[in-house]
Amino acid sequence: MKKLEEKIKNCRKCPLWQLRTNPVPGSGSYDAKVMFVGEAPGYWEDQQGLPFVGKAGKVLDELLNSIGLNRDEVYITNVVKCRPPNNRDPTEEEIKACSPYLDAQIDIIRPRIIVTLGRFSTSYILKKFGFAVEGISKIHGKVFEARTLFGRVYIIPMYHPAVALYRPQLRKELKEDFKKLKELLKSLKI
Ligand code: URA
Ligand code: SF4
Repeated sequence: MKKLEEKIKNCRKCPLWQLRTNPVPGSGSYDAKVMFVGEAPGYWEDQQGLPFVGKAGKVLDELLNSIGLNRDEVYITNVVKCRPPNNRDPTEEEIKACSPYLDAQIDIIRPRIIVTLGRFSTSYILKKFGFAVEGISKIHGKVFEARTLFGRVYIIPMYHPAVALYRPQLRKELKEDFKKLKELLKSLKI
């Protein structure tokens, strides 16, 4: 993983490298059972080189704490590792260029559960594991069971914590979806 992080730090595979202050490979435990995948770094993530350290990160911390987890025991990363200008959506080309890093991280960590945050990571991960992609409002909180070379992986799509910032109803649903994550952890005896 250290080697991979080094590669990401020196990566120039898409134009986003030119604007970054710091690339954001990911943070947390390399032995994590649960991996969270967001979209792309924002302002503070780019400043610090760490994922989810801004306002959305605060929401994510609260959600993790609400089910008795903390950042150090999970792994948190994004589909795209460098900040898109003005936090615009990542393009298809950027996702295509950057996603092999996420693939490699999944192969190294071999998580039991992948929680996708928002539509970009949901659509990337569901496609990767051979599922049809539907709208996030329809599939959030559902558990998708995938078979991989290293065993079963459970995928749970969720809303992105940033959209929950200003929409109380979505925040409630995120909290409910985290409870489902907790139940799944319990049933897998993790
Ligand atoms: N939003 C994301 O998708 N990822 C981050 O790391 C921060 C905000
Ligand atoms: Fe490389 Fe990804 Fe950064 Fe593009 S976003 S330069 S592919 S690390």
